[in-house]
Formats: sequence, structure tokens, C-alpha cells
Amino acid sequence: MNSMKATAIAPANIAFIKYWGKANDALRIPLNSSFSMNISGAYTTTTVEFSPRFIRDDIVLLADSQSGDHVRGIFSELEKKRIIEHLDRIRLRAGVTMCANVVTQNSFPKSSGAASSASGFAALTVAASAALQLHVSEKELTILARLGSGSACRSIPDGFVVWEAGKKSEDSYAYSLHPSTYWELRDILVIVDHSSKKVSTSDGMKTIQSSPLLSERLHNIPHKMVAIQTAFIEKDFEQVGTIIEEDCLSMHRVMQTQNPPINYWNAVTEHLMKEVVSWRKAGLAVYFTIDAGPNVHLICEAIDEKRVVDKVRTIKGVESIIVNAPAPGTRLTKNHLF
Ligand code: PMV
Repeated sequence: MNSMKATAIAPANIAFIKYWGKANDALRIPLNSSFSMNISGAYTTTTVEFSPRFIRDDIVLLADSQSGDHVRGIFSELEKKRIIEHLDRIRLRAGVTMCANVVTQNSFPKSSGAASSASGFAALTVAASAALQLHVSEKELTILARLGSGSACRSIPDGFVVWEAGKKSEDSYAYSLHPSTYWELRDILVIVDHSSKKVSTSDGMKTIQSSPLLSERLHNIPHKMVAIQTAFIEKDFEQVGTIIEEDCLSMHRVMQTQNPPINYWNAVTEHLMKEVVSWRKAGLAVYFTIDAGPNVHLICEAIDEKRVVDKVRTIKGVESIIVNAPAPGTRLTKNHLF
């Protein structure tokens, strides 16, 4: 039999219209469709090998590529369990029972608040499926990745990606709306806190129904999805930025009004949000968006990248900055990690 080993590289993605809340927990079918951009500076590389010689699944996280190849990172037992459950889904699909060796490495510190579960489950899905020579379409790969971590489905197609919420597992999938080359946007990821998030997205989403603002948010999303796609066709950056920022605030208002309330921001996050609004008033076209953590993504056009980075450098409390361009989706490589 051919070698049953494959390696995939998957980008993280930043959602412009956010996913917050599941219609079906086990199948990770979201309450609403979402729209994102793959980002170039934060990605996961994963090698998976299956062999009848292996007696158990072995999962290793290398330290991020900036800290050197020989130091090991740490996966909790819960994270390992979730990875093995995902391998089981792919094994079931391929009709095999062989154990696997998995080695994975992020380009960014795991705790940096960049979406490691999206890039991680996208890379795992594509590498494991290729290692087992599963003949599946990109659409099916996105469905498989979604079962591991919802937003992972958006890291598989190229560039700017729509995740169609759907009602059943087969129609909750992601596709590329435009390739990464379509528009020279930038996501300046401002890390204001390196520590891990306090409430996981899975736990945070469980109490979403307690927010009195949820139904209004869900009501408005179909309109926002159309509006942002139109603004993309017209490359109307002001309109795109306005929608991105409004949707971020709408999601965080839902989080903050859940019972118990979840507030992912810290003082530096809030300060940066105010600064962005004042930079904009002074003529700099930049908009913020924030996921389930305190770190801030500043979205601008490439032409304004330097001005935005220079502004961010003046802010106290910024730990590091990752400059991202739009990135292609998950791809296979022959450069195995072992
Ligand atoms: O797929 P998860 O569990 O990482 O959830 C992602 C949730 C947000 O990052 C807050 C929003 C999004 O659409 O990426």
C-alpha cells in the first residue's frame, strides 16, 4: 500500500459577519450564515500518518514555528479527545480502523487569540482525508471540518468565504466567494493579551438563547450577508468596513447580555476601539472586528497598512502585531513534519 501520510497547511480566518450560536450542537450547524477572510500570518501545519503498526493515536503539538521546532507545545486531554473524535469521523468515512500519528504546529502562539481551532481542524481534516485517500469534494471537506470546529469549514476554501448556515448537515458548508487575490485588504491583528480565553466558544454559545438581543441579530443577518457581498462586488471599502464593525458590536452585545454575561474585552481592547473611531474621523479608513477574546483585528486596505501599524505602535498595552493579507485556503504540501 502507498504511504498513508499527508500534510496540510491551513490558514486561520477572521469573520466579517460572525458565527455565534448553534442550531444543532452535535452537528455544529450554526444559527446564521457567516462570511470571512482567510489570513496569511496565522496558519497551522499538520502531518497525519495512519499505519496498522500503530497501537494508539499519538498527538503531538510542536511549539509555534517562531519559538523553534524542538520544543513541545501542550494539548489538554480535552483537546486531544476532540482531535481523536475527529479522526474517528474520518476513519469511519474511509472504512478503516488504523491508529494515527498526528504532529501539528501553529505559525503563531496557540494562546495568541488567533483562531487556532479553525486552522487546526481544517488542517487535520484535509491531511487525514488525503492520508486515507478519501475522494471527497471541497464542499464535503468543509462539512467534515465543520463537525470538528464550526469556523474551521471557512478555512478550507480560497480567500473570502461564505459559510451557508443550512438546516441539515449536508447543506451547512462553506465556499469561496472571491479568491484571495480579489482584493488587497489587510487584517492587522493586535494582540493585547496572550493568555487563553476565559470562556470557550463552545461554552459561550450554550447560553446564547438567554440574550434578549439574539432574535434581532438573527433577523438582521440575511440582509447584512447580502449587503456585504454587494459591497465586495463594488469594492466599496467604507461600506464593507461599516458592516464589519457593526456586526462585531452586534455579536458582542449578544454575548454581553447572555446569562451569565460574557465580556471578552479588556481595557486595551476598549481603548483601541475608541482610537480606531477617532483615526477614522481624521481620515484613516480602518475598521475593527473582535472575536471571542480581547485581541483586535484592524481591517484596512493595503495602501493604509503602514499608517495603521504606526498608529497601533503608539498604543500602550499592545503585546504584538501580526500583519495579515488575504490567504488561499487549505492546501497539501510534501514538507512533512515527521
Ligand atoms: O468555530 P468556533 O467555535 O471557533 O467559533 C468561532 C466564533 C467566533 O470566532 C467568535 C466568530 C466567528 O465567526 O469566527
